[in-house]
Amino acid sequence: MTSQTINKDETKVRQAVREHYAGAARNVSGCCGGGGEKGSTCGCGHSASASEPSTKALYSAEDFNALPEDVTNISLGCGDPVTLASLKPGQTVLDLGSGGGIDCFLAGKKVGPTGKVIGVDMTPEMLDKARANKVKVGVENVEFRLGEIEHLPVSDSSVDVVISNCVINLSTDKPQVLSEILRVLKPGGRMAVSDIVTSGDLPAEVKASMSAWAGCIAGAMDADEMTTLLKETGFTNIALKPVYFSEEMVADAIQQADYTGSLTSEDLLKTVFSANISAEKPE
Ligand SMILES: C[S@@+](CC[C@H](N)C(=O)[O-])C[C@H]1O[C@@H](n2cnc3c(N)ncnc32)[C@H](O)[C@@H]1O
Repeated sequence: MTSQTINKDETKVRQAVREHYAGAARNVSGCCGGGGEKGSTCGCGHSASASEPSTKALYSAEDFNALPEDVTNISLGCGDPVTLASLKPGQTVLDLGSGGGIDCFLAGKKVGPTGKVIGVDMTPEMLDKARANKVKVGVENVEFRLGEIEHLPVSDSSVDVVISNCVINLSTDKPQVLSEILRVLKPGGRMAVSDIVTSGDLPAEVKASMSAWAGCIAGAMDADEMTTLLKETGFTNIALKPVYFSEEMVADAIQQADYTGSLTSEDLLKTVFSANISAEKPE
């Protein structure tokens, strides 16, 4: 078993993560959108900007600009899993940790009226936000469910593609999350995930920080360990491609995590990065 079988207080971490994202959902107008104070806590290292959400750079302008501000202002990811997934009409898609719903709405467009998208999130305030956003977007084929990604409220072998954006790093039980993904995927189904991973180990002081967990740093898994874990879980055709963060984004993440240790943003930039991760369930 990898070092990600955490010897941490799992309940404490889960509570810190849930509180952090409940706060992000409640304060959305002062979070990533207009009027926010620079440095107020939002999500995975994206500080509030008075101008526009920093996640805008992760998406194509066409996709991003077509969504209402209520959706884009609560975009807290670290990549674009929908583009990575190359979705087709008619597919069933599951989004782990769907937040305010941005990737569900983008996926819903790709799979069309004959497909469907299920978003799962453990934070009730986020679900409320996502459901309100669904009304604003006016889509029929997207549904949001309350649940934990370690215990998915989804039946076996029922999903074509699992997507997720900056969420698996927040889990204290990554082996269980990957087992759940394998369980719900149809044979031949695929996962396409954007997430934070590391190259090597993070200092103990970072791993012990609850705000660094909620800010998507402390729980990030070593990239090689993630690849090994995917293999051990039973996935095939595994690919993990780094998408490096800008120094500004890492500096934001450190600030949001209230990190005061010895590691500089330059050090962290070499160690922590976003990756596109894909893998398949064997036929
Ligand atoms: C960084 S935000 C990303 C939200 C969304 N994917 C996006 O790109 O905007 C993380 C989200 O995952 C949810 N989350 C974190 N850990 C979870 C878990 N173990 N089970 C279900 N949801 C979780 C949080 O409530 C939050 O909404």
